[in-house]
Amino acid sequence: MNILLTNIKKLVQIETGETKIFRAGKEMSELHTINNAWLYIRNGIIDSFGEMKNFDKSKLNNIDNFTTEIDTSGRMVFPTFCDSHTHLLYDGSREIEYIDKIKGLSYEEIAKRGGGILNSTKRLHEASEESLYNQAWARLEEIISMGTGAVEIKSGYGLTTEDELKMLRVIRKLKENSPLTIKSTFLGAHAVPLEYKGKQKEYVDLIINEMIPMVAAEDLADYIDVFCDKGFFTPLETERMLMAGMKYGLKPKIHANELDYSGGIQVGVKYGALSVDHLEYTGDDEIKALLGSETMPTLLPGAAFFLGMVYAPVRKMIDSGLPVAMASDFNPGSSPSGNMQLILSMGCIKYKMLPEEAINAVTLNSAYAMGVSDILGTIAVGKKANLFITKPIPSIEFMPYSFGSNKVDRVILNGKIYA
Ligand code: NIG
Ligand code: FE
Repeated sequence: MNILLTNIKKLVQIETGETKIFRAGKEMSELHTINNAWLYIRNGIIDSFGEMKNFDKSKLNNIDNFTTEIDTSGRMVFPTFCDSHTHLLYDGSREIEYIDKIKGLSYEEIAKRGGGILNSTKRLHEASEESLYNQAWARLEEIISMGTGAVEIKSGYGLTTEDELKMLRVIRKLKENSPLTIKSTFLGAHAVPLEYKGKQKEYVDLIINEMIPMVAAEDLADYIDVFCDKGFFTPLETERMLMAGMKYGLKPKIHANELDYSGGIQVGVKYGALSVDHLEYTGDDEIKALLGSETMPTLLPGAAFFLGMVYAPVRKMIDSGLPVAMASDFNPGSSPSGNMQLILSMGCIKYKMLPEEAINAVTLNSAYAMGVSDILGTIAVGKKANLFITKPIPSIEFMPYSFGSNKVDRVILNGKIYA
């Protein structure tokens, strides 16, 4: 099925000529658009686009009676969001801890009491693969309806070889069946399981000697992640695990500097991580380490908001010349939402990003942070046709401004109208 969109009020985040793999510093406020545009999708790929005033239907390749034409007057078209950091495969929910948090307990205190990640670990162990798959599937449907077209999903609630493999196998099934572009990340080092309390080194050894080789043998993960932070894994332990993963071709994407100046950012850069994520504690040394590197600093404002944490110094990071991406961190403990429109609003309100910068952060730059910026993240000829049509909206700025409501009307994934 081919699709022709006409009378698009504004076609947003287009690329013509040289394509960028990400935008950094001042360039983050560049957002290319066309007013009153058309766009033609053929065989799942963006075939061509341009201004209505130069539109000549007879010049389109293979246009025929089977082409669906949509008049998008008053509506804008965006590339779908790339959500480069989620833990959306989990069992149930953790609203009891949410109440503990409201009453004043910190994330670390909840974790120390066996709550937090270990709570989800226990539940995941008891859940069947089918139940986990169905719960995750419903979350995928929801995020699609809010404009997400690509998502990274981590393991990390297994924390035994068997349960980590179980998670990754479910993610593989989601990959096979979902219209979303999905990347999977092995996060055995999300927390130290109860059985290894006081024996952290042994758990790290288990990850290195058993989990990583088995994950690689079944080709279950694209990336490797470590929660490198105060109270979790040290930079030295992180280095050991990243080196072990990289031997099997797993590129790092790590959790860093959420709870302290943990050294995680520096370790990530040292090992060529695709991204370092969270970054609430980012100072001059961390900015220096990131500048000129290939590592995408990735912000997760949903977690900072939900946990009432300090916000990463994003203005300073961009003004220093860095690129930034934003993702939802969708998980049951620190960000139980995968709504990227809300993330866009938070980026503007809490990080003082301009709407253009925030849009780059949730499309092109987050596509880079999950290794898909060659095929997604912008409207460019030859890229995958993953895009959404908005409801009638007055301006681009309205997207982050009108926080909390769904401005997405229809979603097209792989060139098919999905929702
Ligand atoms: O990214 N920081 C570590 N992990 C998750 C939280 C996971 C959970 O609490 O279940 C995060 O915020
Ligand atoms: Fe996370």
